[in-house]
Amino acid sequence: MYDKPFHNKDISKLKFLVTGGAGFVGSHLVEYLLKYNAGKVIVLDNLSTGFQDNVDLFKNNDNFEFVEGDISCFDTCLEVCRGVDYILHQAALGSVPRSIKYPLDTNKANVTGFLNMINAAKESNVKRFIYASSSSVYGDSPDLPKTEKVIGNPLSPYAVSKRINELYADVFYKNYGLEVIGLRYFNIFGPRQSPSGAYAAAIPLFIFSVLNKTNPDIFGDGKQSRDFTFVENAVEANIKALFVNNNAALGKVFNVALGEKTTVNDLFQIICSIDGASIKPVYKDERKGDIKHSLADISMTKKNNRI
Ligand SMILES: NC(=O)c1ccc[n+]([C@@H]2O[C@H](COP(=O)([O-])OP(=O)(O)OC[C@H]3O[C@@H](n4cnc5c(N)ncnc54)[C@H](O)[C@@H]3O)[C@@H](O)[C@H]2O)c1
Repeated sequence: MYDKPFHNKDISKLKFLVTGGAGFVGSHLVEYLLKYNAGKVIVLDNLSTGFQDNVDLFKNNDNFEFVEGDISCFDTCLEVCRGVDYILHQAALGSVPRSIKYPLDTNKANVTGFLNMINAAKESNVKRFIYASSSSVYGDSPDLPKTEKVIGNPLSPYAVSKRINELYADVFYKNYGLEVIGLRYFNIFGPRQSPSGAYAAAIPLFIFSVLNKTNPDIFGDGKQSRDFTFVENAVEANIKALFVNNNAALGKVFNVALGEKTTVNDLFQIICSIDGASIKPVYKDERKGDIKHSLADISMTKKNNRI
């Protein structure tokens, strides 16, 4: 992966902070930055949903440092931001159902933690703060495809938390001139995405089921659709957001997606067909907080990605 760079500047003297770098997307960002000789890459992660193995991948690289710590502590955020040029903020508690079960935990990591990080970024005069938002902010808006300017009401505490991130980013840009760009990820998938636990994403879960001949749960009738997006595309969006030389992109939020939708039933059949597996899913009640259809309009992202 990452056969060619998405940036065209020398990053060998720059210091990057990747929060949530022990997680799925964050570890790919670290991999990319170290592959292209970043001067220093620091990961801040409390390993709540991330993995020590993802950190250990980089432990022999002298330009890598892991700080085990929690973004809900402002002093930790401030300490780790010292001398940092760019921040890629990924740390958060993911999953809509988790947030419905544990709204306080979600708020602490995703809202308090976000505010701590963006405030520490401002206090430390970082050059740019890129953060992970989510397609969940489109909430109950029936419009398809989803364009950045039209959102509905959030359907879960997770969606609320990501919307609050966008609102804080907007006011930090306007009041303090902090260069911020938000990325609304749509169902990212790829290597190192965990199939385990109650809140696993569909693709790793289905692959695990096929390999182990188990019957995965599908919530609802399976006709709900998602815009499944390969993690390399999310990395590209982050790197381009870091270095985009286009003031119009600052303070904005962009969809990060493929721009095509696949139903959960079709996804299951595609994954089964790769292995010739004949397992059957178990259909369960629809989950609260889930959006029925999700498909991104990526024209604004494409238009603004000049670097
Ligand atoms: N994967 C997706 O499909 C998707 C979709 C939309 C948005 N997002 C967002 O993208 C980001 C990355 O998601 P991911 O799929 O890599 O999730 P992940 O769970 O693999 O990674 C998140 C990381 O953040 C860490 N973390 C959580 N709370 C923390 C805290 N309080 N302090 C320090 N570290 C903490 C976890 O340990 C984990 O390593 C998240 O902000 C998520 O909300 C992901």
